[in-house]
Amino acid sequence: MENNFYTDTILEKDDVCNLFKERARLDQGLKKGQKMLVFGRRNSGKTSVVKNIVGKDWVASQRNSVFVYIDFFGVETVDQMLSRMYSGLAGSLKRSFPIQQTLLTALDIIKRLRPSLKVDDSGSPSISLEISSEGKGGLESFFAALTELHLKKHHVCLVFDEFQDIHKIPEVEGLLRDHLQNLPAKLPVVLMGSKKHILAQMFSSPKRAFFNWGDHIEFGHIPYEEYTAYINARLRKYKLEMSHQVSEHLQNAVNRDPEAVNRICQELLSTFGEAGSKVRSITNLDVEEALAVLLEKRQSSMEEYLRHFTPAEERVLVAFAKQNGKVSLPTGKEFLAKSRLTSGGMKKILDRFVDDAVLYHEGQEFIVSDVFVWRHLKVFRA
Ligand SMILES: Nc1ncnc2c1ncn2[C@@H]1O[C@H](COP(=O)(O)OP(=O)(O)OP(=O)(O)O)[C@@H](O)[C@H]1O
Ligand SMILES: [Mg+2]
Repeated sequence: MENNFYTDTILEKDDVCNLFKERARLDQGLKKGQKMLVFGRRNSGKTSVVKNIVGKDWVASQRNSVFVYIDFFGVETVDQMLSRMYSGLAGSLKRSFPIQQTLLTALDIIKRLRPSLKVDDSGSPSISLEISSEGKGGLESFFAALTELHLKKHHVCLVFDEFQDIHKIPEVEGLLRDHLQNLPAKLPVVLMGSKKHILAQMFSSPKRAFFNWGDHIEFGHIPYEEYTAYINARLRKYKLEMSHQVSEHLQNAVNRDPEAVNRICQELLSTFGEAGSKVRSITNLDVEEALAVLLEKRQSSMEEYLRHFTPAEERVLVAFAKQNGKVSLPTGKEFLAKSRLTSGGMKKILDRFVDDAVLYHEGQEFIVSDVFVWRHLKVFRA
């Protein structure tokens, strides 16, 4: 059965629900060469929009464009960072210059990338790019290359995804800020990430290098009715429908996380999707059952994930699960007793959880970011 609800992937334009305001601001920003910080909860569509929609449109709208997308997810050392940066740059150059001669000319600019010509099995030549081990001062030559491309009349755009992950690498923040500052004014830069708390510290604290940097664009919740329309457009083919009330129930059941909504819709399709002759209306009970089936199916992968936590951390998560994943005062007496922790111990765990986006801290509340985590704990532990 064709499935139109995608998970664990970056979406193509047709599969992204809404986010029109965010797209428009980013479109404008790229055209004007602005510096932008994009942030939001996990799975709020940031990468899909920046890389697959706005980025692709920007590339298609002009000749000679080089869209450099680099993902810093999990980087821990400067070497890892540089290797991501250079392979990202190599990839975008290959996409931008499919004709080998122009690619070689462009490569001339980037001394640290050593091109080598290879002949593949079919006999056609292909260029592979390797990062030369010499080139010291890696950051410098990376940014110098972008500037040079720009001066040679190429349109360059630079995106660093999961940008917050550099925060533990000593001195890198200040260096990157300087290099970004020295890029040509018209060259658009997008920094983005999903660990809101760390990003907030990096970009809002006067003591930090990225204080006051760029325009901030937050990816928020998708309006309920937009997601209802999105769901129904995909269910219709299978003679299924979902009322607004059921759709709202579903969206709330998973804290309005688009990926979790899609996962449940996938499950509903696999249960009810063999098109019958009459239109069937999905009920709240169907949603609950789909959720229960998913928890069963994901049980062992969830256990695997939970092995990353210490026993004390797991106790905190179980206590959260008992309160449906949301707690207003986790350092209060009652909650401390439930988790069998001192207030100092709890604070440490909360800090780490918020930094790693295991929990969101929004207003007064702490919320478990992955609904399947607390629901799993509620069913199988609590
Ligand atoms: N607007 C949307 N419409 C439909 N599905 C969405 C939307 N936004 C996110 N998703 C779902 O979330 C998944 C992740 O999307 P994407 O990687 O673009 O989000 P992200 O904000 O970059 O997430 P992360 O914070 O994990 O990097 C998609 O595979 C899809 O299931
Ligand atoms: Mg992302």
